[in-house]
This record gives sequence, structure tokens and C-alpha cells, in this order.
Amino acid sequence: MLKRTHNCGQLRLSDVGIQVILSGWVNSYRDHGNLVFIDLRDREGLTQLVFNPEIQKEVHRISRDLRCEWVIAAHGVVRPRGEGLENPKLATGQIEVAIDKIEILNKAKTPPFDIDVFEKVNEELRLTHRYIDLRRPEMQNKLRVRHRVAKIVRDFFDEEGYWEIETPMLGKSTPEGARDFLVPSRLYKGTFYALPQSPQLFKQILMVAGTDKYFQIVRCFRDEDPRADRQAEFTQIDVEMSFVQADDVISVNERLVARIFKEVLDVNLPVPVPRISYKEAMDNYGIDRPDLRFDMKLKDISDIAAACTFKVFTGTIEKGGIVKGLCAPGGGKFSRSDIEKTLTNFIADFGAKGLAWMKVEKGDDGSGLVPKSSISKFFSAEQLEQLVQRFEAKEGDLLLFVADKEATVNKALAPLRVRLGHELGLIRPSQFEFVWVVDFPLFEWNEGEKRYDSLHHPFTAPIPQDIPKLDTDPASICSQAYDMVVNGSEIGGGSVRIHDPAIQAKVFDLLNISRQQAQERFGFFLKALEYGAPPHGGIAFGLDRMVMLLTDTDNIRDVIAFPKTQRGQCLLTEAPSEVDKAQLDELNLRVQKHSHTPSDTQRP
Ligand code: AMO
Ligand code: AMP
Repeated sequence: MLKRTHNCGQLRLSDVGIQVILSGWVNSYRDHGNLVFIDLRDREGLTQLVFNPEIQKEVHRISRDLRCEWVIAAHGVVRPRGEGLENPKLATGQIEVAIDKIEILNKAKTPPFDIDVFEKVNEELRLTHRYIDLRRPEMQNKLRVRHRVAKIVRDFFDEEGYWEIETPMLGKSTPEGARDFLVPSRLYKGTFYALPQSPQLFKQILMVAGTDKYFQIVRCFRDEDPRADRQAEFTQIDVEMSFVQADDVISVNERLVARIFKEVLDVNLPVPVPRISYKEAMDNYGIDRPDLRFDMKLKDISDIAAACTFKVFTGTIEKGGIVKGLCAPGGGKFSRSDIEKTLTNFIADFGAKGLAWMKVEKGDDGSGLVPKSSISKFFSAEQLEQLVQRFEAKEGDLLLFVADKEATVNKALAPLRVRLGHELGLIRPSQFEFVWVVDFPLFEWNEGEKRYDSLHHPFTAPIPQDIPKLDTDPASICSQAYDMVVNGSEIGGGSVRIHDPAIQAKVFDLLNISRQQAQERFGFFLKALEYGAPPHGGIAFGLDRMVMLLTDTDNIRDVIAFPKTQRGQCLLTEAPSEVDKAQLDELNLRVQKHSHTPSDTQRP
């Protein structure tokens, strides 16, 4: 076999005159009769091969049979391309290789899609033939970046004195809030392991075990519906450290993220990363993971709305709701149907009952600005003026309002703000805005179940001065949690943990987890806390989400070599699949009559 000496993509003008052997896949071929041109592709790029009967007649003859995706090795001499034939878009665009020897290593069926025109290719087809999809330079780059990030993480933590310690995949359920994937035990029939939703309890136990500084690049499993930025099987950069406070965890980890963005993208992240409180985030952006690439803050106008005569607003406020809005700069250009159909339908998906609007225009006498619309008649001139001032509105802006319960208003306005930010071009490409969101409440009241839920997880510590409130006013307790948010994506979250077993037990009480349930589920952990648990804290980053940001994609499947579809299937291997009866028998399991939901491939 011709042994490869160089990679396609590596050769430059300075290599002219040298002999090379390249191996790879036929990306494209052009047969001009007397000359055949092949673009040969490997992981590093493309090189143009030229087959000329005057150089080697037999090799030229063979080259005319080559087809896309055939695997070949070819020997030849690097030479400059002729004048006017250079391709400035290609790193190797100034040279070509004149081939005198060729070996066909393998033929290939005609690929189900063209690697060069992937944008139009249906994703299911790409996932079914993932080995072809991954040959695309763009996908190879994503895999490369992912590798780089993992390498930087390991180097960074090693230098900082952390140990990478593996934790079990077959374990007991940990409560991150999602459904567990269960694995039946053969030896203990009727019992199950759970795949870890995160190594939360093991990493805390590692701190009790005196390992002091731990990290792990670890697979996590959560049986929830996949979304654009969520997979049932995903990867965390998981970290835990002892004898620390929140600031220590934040400081190490923002240095890690700064190093990753610097080394991969040459982007300088301002360290320390700014922090905002959960309350500020909710008030100004309606969400705890705000996109800070543009301003357009939400403003509460309940005070102005309460005094107007628009029934929708006054009625909402009387029932304890609020009226909040935003000012879309230049949004005056939207048509009535854009607002009353497109935008109103958009927010209806998030539970809002309506979208009130006003366009900010010059007053009739040409002086001052007046918000105008069918509802402006319900506002006095003074109230309209107050609105202009509250939003610092300019001529041509669009004011949009939602009246409802505070939670509903925020749920609707937050995505509306992001949508408008994109549509109005307020976001610069390749801009990154990092922020730590801090001062979260420890609990959130769950009205349906009449109990508290943890806003993060039950092992998150309250700030020390709020500990007495566990007995008096749990809703007002501030936690020691922190989330790292970039461009509206939560890429990491963690906290200082509870290390006092008595406080941990009290938190379980408030979550309505009985002493008995707590013993059954977390007894091993509560026991560990009783044997000298050091104060400790940590964080976990979503590695997939970080790579999404670094490679500029909003599809998590693009940064995972073999992802699952939105319906949790691997189209390449056709998992999940039925298993043999013998396997079930061995596990003492019986499958009830069932109907499969239609697979992705069968979807119309
Ligand atoms: P959390 O549940 O916030 O915290 O997860 C940490 C980070 O993991 C990423 N992430 C996901 N990425 C892709 N698909 C998913 N389904 C998914 N779920 C989460 C997010 C998130 O910020 N044990 C705690 C961490 C700790 O307290 O130390 C935990 O798992 O980027
Ligand atoms: P209506 O009186 O229902 O015809 O509504 C008049 C205007 O108020 C329309 O533009 C509606 O979209 C808007 N509207 C209705 N309900 C709400 C609400 N809860 N919040 C904001 N605007 C609303």
C-alpha cells in the first residue's frame, strides 16, 4: 500500500517540487477528457490531484473510473497551479499534485447525500448515515474543537491540582429533577440501577473522603425529551472542591472558561466575569439565563397601567397580576399583522393571553413623542409621556406589553425579547456576553403539590445568615448557588453544599421528603455527612453546550458524534430496540403488550 506522507490540506506553495503520497476520499471529480481533476479529502482538508495521460497513461485511465467517496492513495509531485487557476477559498488553493501512481483502497456506494451541499440535507438522513455526515469539514471541525476543549480542561485542572476520578455509571438514582434511566439487575431480580443524572452525591462523598479537589469529564443521563440544547445523554465537566466558599469556585472556573475561549477562539473573556442577581435577571430580562448581547430591558409599568382605563390592564392588576413591557428599537416598522398575528401567536405559545402595543411617533403638533395605537385612548397624555420616559423610547420604537401573573408575563416576554433582538439585528455575530447569575432563592413554591422545590438541587447550601429562616420563612432564603450564562445559554451551574447533616435533614423536610424516604434514597449520603464532611462546593458545566457556543451552532446534535434524535432514537444503530426473550427471562422481566410510537424515520 502507498504509505501516506502528508495530509491533504497541509500542502502550500513552499512544498512545490516535493513528492507526496496522499490518502483520502474522492470529494469531487472533473473529467476534461485529457485531464482529470480530483479533489481529495481527508480530516485536514482538500488537495487537487491532476491526472494527465502524458505523465502516466495507465494512472490517467484508472482515474477516469473514480467516483465520489472512493478511498484512494496517490503519489505525485506538488506543483503550482497555473495562473488564474488558483482557488483563494482553499488553504491549498495555490498548488496541485500531478499524480503518477494510484491505489484504489476501497470503492463506495453513491452516498445518500452530497457532502458539499449539506445545508439542504435532511437531518434524519445525516444521522442515519452519520459516518458520511461526519466527513463534512464542518463536522470534523466540531469534533476537533470538542477534543481541544476536553484536553484544555484536563490540562487546566491537572495544573491546578485536581484529580480526575471516575464515578459509577450503574448507581442509585440522584435527584437532579429528571426521570432516571433504569438498568435491571440480573443478580438481584426485581431491582434496578439508575444511570447517573450527574455525579452529584459521589463527588460530595469524594470530598468527605478527603480527595479535596476533584473533576471529571463525565456522561450524564436524564430521561427527558431532547431539545435543541438538551440531550438525554450529555457530558458534564464536573468539579468539586473542599474548604471553599462560592467565590473560590467561581474564580477557578471562570479562569477555566477564559482559557477555553482564548485557546479555541482567541476570544478574551473579561475576568472576573460580571455577576447579576437572580432578581435583577428576572426583573430586567424575565429569565434566569439572560442574553446580555443587547439591552432592551423589560420594565414593570404596573403603576402607570393601574391608573389607566384599559380594562385588560386594570383588571389584571386588581387580580394581583402585573403589566410589564419592552421597547423594541426601530420596531415601529412592524406591520399591524406582524404584531397582532406573528408576535402575538409567538407569545401565546408561552402562555400569554395577548400582546398590547404602541408605536412611538412624533406628536400631531410635531413636538414630543406620543405612543399611538388603538389602546392609547385609554391613557392620559401624562401617562403616555410616563411610558415614553420609562422606556427611554425614541421615535420609530415599538412598545409591547403583557398583562398577567408575574411568572406568565416573564415567560412570554423573555423569549419575545430574544426573538426581537435577533430580528432587529441587535446582536453582533461572534459576540460573547458572560455573566454569573447569583443570589438565587433556595426554594420555589410548588403550588400544584403544595410544597417547596429546590431551585437547584437539595444539596445546595443557604447563605449562613438565612439558616434561621429554614424554620420561619423558607421562601425568602437565599442560596449559595451560581449559574454561568453565555448569550442566553446556561452553560454551567453549581453551589456551595450543605455539609451539616442536621441542615440537610431540615431541607428534605421542607421538600416534603419524609425522614423514611430520605433514609431510603439518601441514607448512605446522610451517613457520610456524619463522618467529618468538610465544607465544600462545586459546579458542573455542560460540555456539549460549551462546544455549541464555540462552534456557533444552536443544534446540540451537531457537537455530539452519535446523538439521539428529538425522539430519543439513534438512527444509525436503531436504538432503542427490542431484545430477545432469553435476555428478558434472565432479568426476570416481562414486557406488556405495547405499541411503539412512530419512529422518526417513519414521520411524514
Ligand atoms: P445541572 O443540572 O444544572 O447541575 O447541570 C449542569 C449543566 O449541565 C448542562 N446540562 C445539559 N446539557 C445538555 N443536555 C441536558 N439534558 C443537560 N442538562 C444539563 C447545562 C447545565 O448548566 N450536579 C449539578 C451541578 C453541581 O451542582 O455541581 C448539576 O448537574 O449546561
Ligand atoms: P381585547 O380587548 O381583548 O380585544 O384586547 C385589546 C388589545 O389588548 C389586543 O391588542 C390584545 O392583544 C391586548 N391584550 C389582551 N389581553 C392582553 C394581556 N393579557 N396582556 C397584554 N395585552 C393584552
